[in-house]
Amino acid sequence: MPDRKKFVYLPKAKNDFVVIGRGAAGSPEQEPPRAPGSRVVRPKKRSFAVDQSVTLAGVRLKNPVVVASGTFGFGREYGEFYDLSELGGICCKGLTLHRREGNPPPRIAETPMGILNSVGLQNPGVDAFIAHELPELRRHDLAVIANISGNTPEEYGIMCEKLSDAGVDLIEVNISCPNVKAGGLAYGTRPELAAEVTSVAKAHAGKTPVMVKLSPNVTDITEIARAVAGAGADALSLINTLRGMRIDVNTRRPILKMNTGGLSGPAVLPVAVRMVWEVHNALPGMPILGMGGVAKGEDAAQLMLAGASAVAVGTACFADPYAPIRVRDGLAEIAQRQGLDKVSALTGAVKPW
Ligand code: FUM
Repeated sequence: MPDRKKFVYLPKAKNDFVVIGRGAAGSPEQEPPRAPGSRVVRPKKRSFAVDQSVTLAGVRLKNPVVVASGTFGFGREYGEFYDLSELGGICCKGLTLHRREGNPPPRIAETPMGILNSVGLQNPGVDAFIAHELPELRRHDLAVIANISGNTPEEYGIMCEKLSDAGVDLIEVNISCPNVKAGGLAYGTRPELAAEVTSVAKAHAGKTPVMVKLSPNVTDITEIARAVAGAGADALSLINTLRGMRIDVNTRRPILKMNTGGLSGPAVLPVAVRMVWEVHNALPGMPILGMGGVAKGEDAAQLMLAGASAVAVGTACFADPYAPIRVRDGLAEIAQRQGLDKVSALTGAVKPW
């Protein structure tokens, strides 16, 4: 088992590997039951007669499965389980211009079918990422997606310039973190500010494509999507977490020190599918990285049918580090079973009533 002390940029639940979302009973993705704390099971190697490659904002991914920002650190810890080259890409832990310690604990709380987090963008800062993490990631064959958050549009611009010069494959502009006082949701819930951040990011990102990460904490997500598309976004990622709260009824205190946090995990999947579908209908040509509660191939297939070109696996990684591999194989199996020659044929293929 990897040394858990090294999981510095990953949120920690009370029990390290909690079970969040399993394959349906009898499905090929279902893991054998295991006792809490016991070793996770490596999936068997499988091969499929379908083309798994997809393109996201002009970036080729060898398969459509990316790991979601904030759930995979910079890949070092999970790299002790498997070669990161098995993934289509990694969205790195959210970066800020300067190092951040994040919010005070408790900042993770389990919920039925998910977790609440209020991590607060703990990260080493963009320069440390470029100096120490990016070269390590570059040893693997996967797309490196840098996720950035700023206090001002100018900070987004500075980070875009640094990351573009450093050669990341894609920049994910986070305007949807619910756990910070400045920036975050303040940008992601107001179309004019979302557009401003996007155009500053685009102006400083050079040839590196810019993908904007949208918040579900809005009345109409297509309004924000249209605003950032109009400002030049090359792709959209959705959804970030839903704002939520848990209270200890005995102490009458919120469980999280910040009172509220962001909900992720299987509970949010139907919201993510609905929002991806709405955004895809509103902006049919816009590439979408779909995420929110993906734990198995069928979840990923739903997001792709709704209009996503690729999917991100997040919270499921805490329960099972191999979740992204299981999702990748489950998705390929569905495509193969349906007689498709490529997984990308699922994108937008839902048949609404
Ligand atoms: O608090 C956090 O670090 C989470 C960031 C996000 O949801 O974007």
